[in-house]
Amino acid sequence: MKIAVVGTGYVGLVTGTCFAETGNDVICVDIDANKVEQMQQGKVPIYEPDLDVLFERNQRQGRLKFTTDLKEAVDASDVIFLALPTPPGEGGAADLKYILGVAKDLSTLITKYTVVIDKSTVPVGTAERVHAALVENLDEALFDVVSNPEFLREGVAVDDFLKPDRVVIGTDSKRAKEKMRRLYEPFVRSGNPIIFMDLRSAEMTKYAANSYLATRITFMNEIANLCEKAGADVDAVRRGMGSDSRIGKRFLFPGVGYGGSCFPKDVQALAITAGQHDYNFKILDAVMDVNTRQRFRIADKLEQYYGDSLKDKTIALWGLAFKPNTDDIREAPALYTIDRLLEAGAQVRAFDPEATEHVRAIYGDKVTFCEDQYTALRGSDCLAIVTEWSVFRTPDFDRMKELLTEPVIFDGRNLYDLQRMQEAGFHYDSIGRQP
Ligand code: UGA
Repeated sequence: MKIAVVGTGYVGLVTGTCFAETGNDVICVDIDANKVEQMQQGKVPIYEPDLDVLFERNQRQGRLKFTTDLKEAVDASDVIFLALPTPPGEGGAADLKYILGVAKDLSTLITKYTVVIDKSTVPVGTAERVHAALVENLDEALFDVVSNPEFLREGVAVDDFLKPDRVVIGTDSKRAKEKMRRLYEPFVRSGNPIIFMDLRSAEMTKYAANSYLATRITFMNEIANLCEKAGADVDAVRRGMGSDSRIGKRFLFPGVGYGGSCFPKDVQALAITAGQHDYNFKILDAVMDVNTRQRFRIADKLEQYYGDSLKDKTIALWGLAFKPNTDDIREAPALYTIDRLLEAGAQVRAFDPEATEHVRAIYGDKVTFCEDQYTALRGSDCLAIVTEWSVFRTPDFDRMKELLTEPVIFDGRNLYDLQRMQEAGFHYDSIGRQP
């Protein structure tokens, strides 16, 4: 099939590259001429595991192209994916100016039957607005609008795209439905479902899934906080709970709150959608409140431990990205931790395997950025862990003790065994477990 993908953020680029991998001709469009030129020269603009290999192969074999020219892409394609940003706009509701702007442009460019697909996370009713924008200049027989929300996790987005648990397609058109089925069949040969539904339900599914997952994590964060007070161990509780097949083991890890570009924005957007429909979705408000508090959990613990003397301390910080295997720092708990530490007058020596430059751009020399995890410890009074990169999982504890002025660790991701840390002589304070 001939596919255009408008927007080359991580969703658009992964989508375009993976469709090229199954033999389609894909042309990706972006207004950023610099970025397009880089991609034309074979440079992948984001860090996403495995993407570079697929990108290189499909570009070399001529199935993956890049342009700034929307008309060129429209002429060359019979399906067009919209993978554009939907940032929180006024009052936190998703801002649709990019999506509707491109839809308007498409209305003057489409000349043959084309399926226009919302891939971005967009509020219920957006497909109807895209339809309305298109129909202004275009015969209804020449297009269908489809909602096809993405469920990709950053860091494993390629794998998630190639082997999805499910594909959700919202459409009221038989013709579009068949095209979408053909497009996605290669990815669900294992038997996972392509679930067809109406447009509004597809749009709602995305928000419901993300908000449910954010609620689940938040619930576990509350259980963890209570475990600390009640003398229980959240790790044991998590295993005990997760073994119930109705609950399941995944996505139950407490920590320093959820971050990233999706959960915070989507929970807020769903709460706003509820409000617009005169529905008080109480759980979502609680989830947002608790998460705002949880992001400061490590900073709170440091303040409690050091009291006023925190201002004279140097804190080593491991992990800046909002989660491992990405350089994305949007809504990263590390940023909230740094803000509080700097406010308290403490020094911060930080290390992250991928995200350092993005954080340096915010803090400049207010934070000392280190080349590796051990350098961050040199002369620091304690270590705070905020992101669970694999490289932090089995460190050289003896070396850590030599480098830190005191053997003290605050772990926001529960990476280490409690008994082992006690034997190694660390004061080890984690989330939902007894120090
Ligand atoms: C999330 C969803 O998982 C994807 O399905 C969805 O497509 C994506 O948002 C999106 O809307 O685009 P992502 O934001 O990449 O993906 O990250 P997750 O792996 O879901 O993690 C989100 C946050 O939850 C992170 O801050 C992570 O540290 C936290 N988390 C996750 C926990 O604190 N505990 C867990 O057990 C799992």
